[in-house]
Amino acid sequence: MIEATTERELRHAVGKWRAAGERIGFVPTMGALHAGHLSLVELARKHASRVVTSVFVNPMQFGAGEDFTRYPRTPEADAAALAAAGCDLLFVPAVDVLYPPGSSTRVRVEEPSRGLEGDCRPGHFEGVATVVAALFGLVRPEVAVFGEKDAQQLAVVRALARDLHFGIDIVAAPTVRESDGLAMSSRNVYLSPDERRAAPALYQGLEAARAAIAAGERSSAAVTAIVRARVAAEPGLELEYAALVAADSFRPLERLAGEVVLPVAARAGTTRLIDNLRLRVD
Ligand code: PAF
Repeated sequence: MIEATTERELRHAVGKWRAAGERIGFVPTMGALHAGHLSLVELARKHASRVVTSVFVNPMQFGAGEDFTRYPRTPEADAAALAAAGCDLLFVPAVDVLYPPGSSTRVRVEEPSRGLEGDCRPGHFEGVATVVAALFGLVRPEVAVFGEKDAQQLAVVRALARDLHFGIDIVAAPTVRESDGLAMSSRNVYLSPDERRAAPALYQGLEAARAAIAAGERSSAAVTAIVRARVAAEPGLELEYAALVAADSFRPLERLAGEVVLPVAARAGTTRLIDNLRLRVD
């Protein structure tokens, strides 16, 4: 596996592959890699002959008072896991490689950034869209893989790639879960043993909602009430939101129809957990 830290090193390696007619797959990450990230690399391999993974803890997508400084950083373990997963190039840029001195461009994707995470974390999606656009410009992949766990981010990235004509296929990878249903996340290491025990209630709420929808429930208010009730029964968790939205626009829905997402967020102590249910309702 090649390790690149500069634009020149990255472009040199990727340029050689592109000149040889290879298809480049890209997996952007913030490191502290777990099995969920490695599943993105595996999926990228199925869509491309070369896989580039970036590790960059993007300061622009963290708000004041969020966990940028304490975000887990495990560079050696990340490199070893990526090499074992068959990644061809690991790109680890410094801040001034991604944002050269004087850079002042910001990318804002309007509609899918509104509400939910957009309200809880003002400026977050502008930071995500800006760094993803910069990474797309550097790597210029044919295909990029993002996790379904960050459902609103996925909608933002799809809109970004479409609206700015990047010509990149955005592939979504299913959420990878612990055996008790908790969605894997680099931030799960923050959970105390009690918080970790409480955390799967969020997934259980989603599964209860899935069962109600399968039984014919189509009212968003009724479905989100099921999630609220399950999370309220767990004293270690505090729900921030549960909503039903259209999968592509993240526009709120009163009744379920078409491709829908039920995104949820909760706090376990000081740690935010997000998860979602994605389904097609006919
Ligand atoms: O999902 C993440 O890890 C980040 O938001 C991303 C897409 C790598 C951008 O920094």
